[in-house]
Amino acid sequence: MDEITVLAIETSCDETAVAVVQKNGPTITVLADIVASQVDIHAATGGVVPEVAAREHLQVIGPLIKQVMTAADAKPAALDAIAVTVGPGLMPALSVGVNAARILAYVWKKPLVPVHHLAGHVVSALLRRDPNNIQLYQVPDQTTFPALALIVSGGHTLLLKVTDFLTYEILGTTRDDAAGEAFDKVARLLHLPYPGGPAISKLAQEGDASAYAFTRPMLRSGDLDFSFSGLKTEVLYTVRDLSEQALQAEAANLAASFQQAVVESLVIKTVRAAEQLVPKVVLLAGGVAANELLRTSLAASLAAKNIPLQVAPLELCGDNAIMIGQVGVLAFAGGRATTWQHIDAAARLDIVTMANHQRRR
Ligand code: KG4
Ligand code: ZN
Repeated sequence: MDEITVLAIETSCDETAVAVVQKNGPTITVLADIVASQVDIHAATGGVVPEVAAREHLQVIGPLIKQVMTAADAKPAALDAIAVTVGPGLMPALSVGVNAARILAYVWKKPLVPVHHLAGHVVSALLRRDPNNIQLYQVPDQTTFPALALIVSGGHTLLLKVTDFLTYEILGTTRDDAAGEAFDKVARLLHLPYPGGPAISKLAQEGDASAYAFTRPMLRSGDLDFSFSGLKTEVLYTVRDLSEQALQAEAANLAASFQQAVVESLVIKTVRAAEQLVPKVVLLAGGVAANELLRTSLAASLAAKNIPLQVAPLELCGDNAIMIGQVGVLAFAGGRATTWQHIDAAARLDIVTMANHQRRR
């Protein structure tokens, strides 16, 4: 089978995303895609309330699927499979996407491809987007492996050894908060809106990154793990001692100094992992990969060691269904499909176990 077409669904957190993605040999084409963000709703509560997210997903998912199928000019008969994020993520949110996929698979008599959310982020940086046509992606050949991936999002901070498109080993992870979560929590301390990452990086442009000497956590830990909750507490203690007026005056400096500490900690550990692994390429993806300082600092540090950095396209850093469809067509091509009776959402889902589990099927 040379041409594979999947409908992809992603509802693990606060974006409802649907796409139709097609694989033709080494080329993957996005036929249509939509992301409906709930950011405005969650901004009111300063974070995602899982039940609220689920209700929103449920409200929009039907119309979005119809809209994407129409935009792709795809009839159900043209689909080879339905790919869906099964985890990790917020259980009530994940369940909406998984159940929608399950119902469609039953009614349309299609196989299902369970997708690990983080495999989506990895693949979003692994595939190469055509500079002249943003709907076209090239699947690299095997000479791109081993790759090293830094996945940084609101829920995850992971260094992965990538030995094949869907085969990973965990080299390092966070011991507490994820990098994006730290941005979100510190933003709240600085009275900035949710999501915190974009707000902090914008404000940081007006600040002095050396104004506060926050700790670069875990640098002497000897492993490849991260930790961000201590840094957040340092910011908290600093903010607590400031009057409301002083906080206003210092917010940009605090944002810049905090961002610098997070970025340095991510860059130093990633470079350390790259020295150990000697990968063909380093991949950077996930919501925090949108951070300009992280992109430029990591690129500069790796360039000094002659290791290329491949960053996910900006539009694919946040959650989307294109990356889920990309994994979907690759996994389906590799025979990793199941049926509607055998798929379930899982809030916690190990990326290594999932890859092995899928390979056995
Ligand atoms: O991948 P993503 O959309 O959702 C998860 O799977 O978590 O990542 C969202 C996270 C949020 O924590 C947000 O604050 C962070 O990515 N983020 C950023 C930036 N843009 C988004 N963090 C730092 N700098 C940014 N420019
Ligand atoms: Zn994500």
